[in-house]
Amino acid sequence: KAGYFTYDPGYVSTGACESKITFIDGEKGQLLYRGYPIEQLAEQSNFEEVAYLLLNGELPSKEEFENFVAKINNHTMVHQQMMNFFNGFRRDAHPMAIMVSVVGALSAFYHDSLDINNPEHRDISALRLIAKVPTIAAMCYRYSVGHPFVYPDNDMSLAENFLNMMFSMPTNDWKPDPVLVKAMDRIFILHADHEQNASTSTVRLAGSSGANPFAAIASGIACLWGPAHGGANEACLNMLREIGDVSRIPEFIERAKDKNDPFRLMGFGHRVYKNFDPRAKVMRESAHEVLDLLGKHDDPIFKIALELEKIALEDPYFIEKKLYPNVDFYSGVILDAMGIPTNMFTVIFALARTVGWVSQWHEMIGEDDRRIGRPRQLYTGATERDYVDLNKR
Ligand code: SDX
Repeated sequence: KAGYFTYDPGYVSTGACESKITFIDGEKGQLLYRGYPIEQLAEQSNFEEVAYLLLNGELPSKEEFENFVAKINNHTMVHQQMMNFFNGFRRDAHPMAIMVSVVGALSAFYHDSLDINNPEHRDISALRLIAKVPTIAAMCYRYSVGHPFVYPDNDMSLAENFLNMMFSMPTNDWKPDPVLVKAMDRIFILHADHEQNASTSTVRLAGSSGANPFAAIASGIACLWGPAHGGANEACLNMLREIGDVSRIPEFIERAKDKNDPFRLMGFGHRVYKNFDPRAKVMRESAHEVLDLLGKHDDPIFKIALELEKIALEDPYFIEKKLYPNVDFYSGVILDAMGIPTNMFTVIFALARTVGWVSQWHEMIGEDDRRIGRPRQLYTGATERDYVDLNKR
């Protein structure tokens, strides 16, 4: 049925589900949100409008957009007692560890939106998650550096608000640069949804049991953290730093080909894309803009990224394996140039992907004949046998 893992009785689960939200053509390198090309949305839309589109299926009218933003703004703050969770963590806790915990803890505060059978609960919990996750994400950073939490300012967009909650100080009137706000908004749009990736499938499976949406989204955050998935942006920047100089790129390319070496080129390859990830192309252009604005066009990390991409795309192994840069390859370069610490990269990915997770959860839960997901297996273990007493083994 739509939205669930379907399987033919007696066969291994196809793991496939139906959805109207996002379409990917891996061979063409095509990505559509509700039919709209990601390139056009990244260039012409904004994160709030994309959130509305993913959730509701159509681009909003001016009035619909304003109402949607007003509803989000009602929920950007978090319960004051949630501040206490942060104090339980060490200051050097990975922000993703805090995100998993605090987002899951939302289910302990919003009892009036936990009943997934109540359409009003479903709608308000979707808005609460879209509105509160950016605030919690910024709080994770502020806590890690010992700075006071900054309250959301509802005169700002989600992207501007996030940067403001990350970097503004009570001691000065710093405000985010509009070009950086646009770059962050574009990063949010590019990461918002991506069909049935590992973390979205996790959210669907968790939600299919009837677990409340806050817990389901927390399970998605946990899955996204892995370096093979959303953690790749952090791993990619660490890899570029480890390479350190363009002269060492061939060494790492050879390691990536060596089956006996667990090293993989972070930010390269994709289960679905066997062509350029369209998000990587937009991200590369955005990186040029941001680095030029910040006067960092000679950024050594960016130079290594550009040269690594060039060499890898000409390498017969990568050509044969159809390995191309993915969304995580350039995002870290931009975030690093913007002064975002590396351990916050996946938090930003989770912030943006919350919109997709919520939309996919909402689509699934809204099905009138929804069923619990139940992936099947191909059993390859022992055939039936009798128990053997310990003294006879
Ligand atoms: C995301 O699913 C999504 O949509 C995810 C995502 C989203 O928006 O939600 O797009 C976000 O997770 C992007 C991917 C981020 N991860 C990385 O950049 C980590 C590095 N990439 C690899 O770990 C890998 O490419 C994966 C995990 C992304 C995909 O792994 P697969 O499915 O095993 O890749 P594949 O089947 O296409 O691999 C084909 C071959 C394999 O070798 P053989 O078994 O054929 O000999 O290419 C090899 C792989 O070992 N390979 C790589 C490689 N990626 C695949 N070799 C070196 N470096 C790499 N990066």
